[in-house]
Amino acid sequence: MDYLNSARLHGSSQPRKMMAAFALLFVLAVLSRCVEGSSLHPFDPRSGSLTLGKGVGGWPPLGKGVGWPPRDTQCHHMLKHLHHGARITVQMPPNIEGQWVSTSCEVRPGPEFVTRSYRFYGNHTFQAHQYYYADNHCTTPTHTLVARGRLRLRQASWIVRGGTEADYTLHSLRLLCHTDAAAAEITQRLRRSCHGSGVVQEQEAGLEEGGVGLALGGRGLEAGVSYELWNDGEKGCDCPRGLDFAMHELQLIRLEKQYQHHNLEQLVEELFLGDIHTEPSQRIYYRPSSYQPALQSTKTHDQACITCRIISRADEVHPPILPPRGDLMVNLHGHWVSQRCEVRPEVLFLTRHFIFHDDNNTWEGHYYHYSDPVCKHPTFSLYARGRYSRGMTSTRVMGGTEFVFKVNHMRVLPLDLATTSLLNVFSGDECGPQGSWRLGVEQDVTPTGGCVALGVRLPHTEYELFRLEEDTHGRRLLFNGQRPSDGSSPDRPQRRATSYQTPMVQCSGTAHDGRHHGNHAEEEEGGPDYGGREGREGGAEGRHGGADHRRRGTQPRSGGVEGRRRGDVEVVALATALVLLGVGVLG
Ligand SMILES: *[C@@H]1O[C@H](CO)[C@@H](O)[C@H](O)[C@H]1NC(C)=O
Ligand SMILES: *[C@@H]1O[C@H](CO)[C@@H](O)[C@H](O)[C@H]1NC(C)=O
Repeated sequence: MDYLNSARLHGSSQPRKMMAAFALLFVLAVLSRCVEGSSLHPFDPRSGSLTLGKGVGGWPPLGKGVGWPPRDTQCHHMLKHLHHGARITVQMPPNIEGQWVSTSCEVRPGPEFVTRSYRFYGNHTFQAHQYYYADNHCTTPTHTLVARGRLRLRQASWIVRGGTEADYTLHSLRLLCHTDAAAAEITQRLRRSCHGSGVVQEQEAGLEEGGVGLALGGRGLEAGVSYELWNDGEKGCDCPRGLDFAMHELQLIRLEKQYQHHNLEQLVEELFLGDIHTEPSQRIYYRPSSYQPALQSTKTHDQACITCRIISRADEVHPPILPPRGDLMVNLHGHWVSQRCEVRPEVLFLTRHFIFHDDNNTWEGHYYHYSDPVCKHPTFSLYARGRYSRGMTSTRVMGGTEFVFKVNHMRVLPLDLATTSLLNVFSGDECGPQGSWRLGVEQDVTPTGGCVALGVRLPHTEYELFRLEEDTHGRRLLFNGQRPSDGSSPDRPQRRATSYQTPMVQCSGTAHDGRHHGNHAEEEEGGPDYGGREGREGGAEGRHGGADHRRRGTQPRSGGVEGRRRGDVEVVALATALVLLGVGVLG
């Protein structure tokens, strides 16, 4: 289903050292080529996209070759919009002062069902409420954690372009259980990690709220009592660890401003914080390399977001209770596309377009990869297809449905020099015939059993988790399983995800058959405000460029005239090399 990440593991047939050497060689080759003459390379920073000559046509490269969806579909329009970085501006460095809340009931690995309400103050401190629930619609609160601390923004992230790095220190962490059952369960978890530290904590028992050490040594935590689990520099008890708690998500920040679909006056601000490790016990060691679902500013949130309003008004004593709703039956049939330029761990930016044929249980996937966080500079695309079968309702993840996916056919289309060179660097016929890759020319890699360079082995099987939701505008959203953070592949049932990726939205296969969703796209594409959006888009780029520049300043660089262009190439080359190294290291 999503083999490229899994790929990093699966491409392990190649010895690691060789991979690293290739990557290095390859970066050098690309860089030296760029020094030679700027007129040769196809990057045009002004157009903001590749100038591949007239042969390649529009992007995404739809309607060309077998298997590419026709151009005039609604899905195509939606993808094209993403490609243009439509309507989004990114603020760097971000000003995140204010209150930010979840827009829905979030599913974290475990699974954990949470809503979040975070406040950032002008004096660099924060107060973060995490509300936990027993169910996937966040109607039954179990407990609340309130973290307080200090946050300091650092430089633009080198690993995740478009993100800003930050450091934080935790000053305090409070826990309040809402039910006896939750109190009993958390008592068990904390007794393991706080074992032997009762004395230290008992000194704090003087706090009116209750001493956690005393409680753990005695009858256990009580519902309705607030406990301090952590106090500045306090050693001896590691209660946060007992809950697999960390605020490392604050280490990676991205702030996007976006105008609402139909209303130019309505500016929505979205705050993306770092992802958390898919293995709960690894959370405290993990530095984020992609994002969680965005939080929205309470000042500007989408008026249709009732959930946002409920969460913004809550506090630890009155946790948000979301309106009950039923689980939607997962029906994959039809077309689905990304809603945004998606970020994956380790420098991958992509958009996706999936087609599921329920009648014969086959699927097709288009993955458009980019080197930048607004999906403007394509690097390569993949087309894959195979079969799928529906499994049971998940017993582990409430609201999820299990599927098994097989990939048995794949084509690769290199769309920049770096990727083309990369594909050609590999010896042996393990990714199409050796040395046969040309910029903008698609090849079938099925006969060579996939593509080692991209870490894809065929045939490949994955154990998937799906969920269907309706967003606040009534559009259907399809969630599939989050990739394991360690780069492994869910190629066994026990490795199946317990949380989800950024959802795709349903689009219709043709421009005219969208009974429910057709209108929407029509307005998106042809609305009178289109020109205005383009204007803002330009602004976004400007700011992006600035950020890139700062970051690039830390990289050794010679010759200033072609700095901007060469910089782009460097980034692309390095990004690809990192992917490559990832194959070797994680494999
Ligand atoms: C920071 O500002 C907030 C809100 O104004 C205030 O509650 C908090 O005490 C301040 N913290 C420090 C360390 O000044
Ligand atoms: C499955 O059905 C789709 C659409 O009906 C068709 O395009 C595709 O070729 C079929 N695949 C197979 C393997 O039969």
